[in-house]
Amino acid sequence: MTPGARLAAAAEVLDQVLQGRSAADRALQAWGRSHRFAGSKDRAAIAERVYAVLRRLGECEAAGGARSGRSLVLGSLVVCDRLPVPAIAQLATDGTHAPGALSRAEESRLAGHVAGPEDVLLNVPSWLLVRLRAAFGDRLEAELSALNARAPLDLRVNTLKARREDMLRGLICEGLAAQACARAPEGIRLPAGADARVSSLACFAEGWVEVQDESSQLAVRFADPKPGETVIDLASGAGGKALAMAALMQDRGRVLACDVAIERLMALGARRSRSGATIITMAGDPYGERLTQLAGAGADLVFVDAPCSGSGTWRRNPEAKWTLDEARLQGYLAAQVQLLDRAAGLVSPAGRIVHAVCSILPEEGPEQAAAFCARHAGWSVSRTLQLSPASTDTDGFFAAELRRS
Ligand SMILES: C[S@@+](CC[C@H](N)C(=O)[O-])C[C@H]1O[C@@H](n2cnc3c(N)ncnc32)[C@H](O)[C@@H]1O
Repeated sequence: MTPGARLAAAAEVLDQVLQGRSAADRALQAWGRSHRFAGSKDRAAIAERVYAVLRRLGECEAAGGARSGRSLVLGSLVVCDRLPVPAIAQLATDGTHAPGALSRAEESRLAGHVAGPEDVLLNVPSWLLVRLRAAFGDRLEAELSALNARAPLDLRVNTLKARREDMLRGLICEGLAAQACARAPEGIRLPAGADARVSSLACFAEGWVEVQDESSQLAVRFADPKPGETVIDLASGAGGKALAMAALMQDRGRVLACDVAIERLMALGARRSRSGATIITMAGDPYGERLTQLAGAGADLVFVDAPCSGSGTWRRNPEAKWTLDEARLQGYLAAQVQLLDRAAGLVSPAGRIVHAVCSILPEEGPEQAAAFCARHAGWSVSRTLQLSPASTDTDGFFAAELRRS
């Protein structure tokens, strides 16, 4: 493919992503499947352009004049590549599959680009900027720029089967720049972009490691599930944290994994077999009678890894910043309330609830935990955990432990 054709392909993918039809990684995979002629270098260049635009969408939109794939890609040639307009015009007509000739309006827009207001420069939607400013104060610029960097790839060593020092040695022998995570005792950090190589390694097939950001590993450690306890993972998804909890519990006790999305929960089956954990039961719907019966006299710990904006994971999913809107956020907040209230009915009198979100927005984190305590007499927040790329070099994450006082 010519450089111009790669730009046009990136514009096509961006349109899919920004219309909310697909996450960036899935849109790129789908594009690859329907354009088999594209080589690995073409795919890499297209992905790089798509992510560069998504990370600096505010600036690219200001330079290109609109939030369409074409305008954003053209804008990115000014913002990211610092190209002059004649060079952009040449690229735009670089072969039959290139974006096509620039209009007069586009030429003058690209030529006249000047740095924009704060929300544009910080590459964050203006409605979110107000809330983030309230949350971070004068740390906002540092937090947002760390959230805009590329994320490393973290692994969790499955201590039911393997030891971190052996895994580190093995990964280094494979030529990977693996390092022990600074905070999570089972964590291994690999450089950004190691994903493709790592997934084909034997340590995955053997169940020795799982991909899991250090923040998620720390959230599970914060929840502190103990051997022999009954733990309910109320929003288990494909069970990344359920597996981590079973390992911390040394495979003793019970982990009841639930999710409203049963097909996601089913994906836990193969991961559970690979991990060697025997204490995880797939308990189905979090609101179902089956879970109530399995919980019996109540769980020691109900872990609520609630659906949320994912604002803590913007390093990995920069598109989530732009597809989030007020209505969607309100939907997450309502689901969090529903799950936390359900948790209150499942926990034993001496038990604890952990509310966890991969979010940096106060309304999903500390404010949601406080609202739970206001709704349920006798409950209070006993401890909290707050992580962010700038402060802990992890994804953004919040967790609160709730107990009856
Ligand atoms: C943050 S994810 C869970 C990730 C998982 N615990 C892990 O470690 O991989 C949140 C989960 O909440 C579920 N969920 C979405 N909407 C929900 C709702 N309205 N009520 C309950 N659960 C919901 C989703 O299916 C999703 O799997």
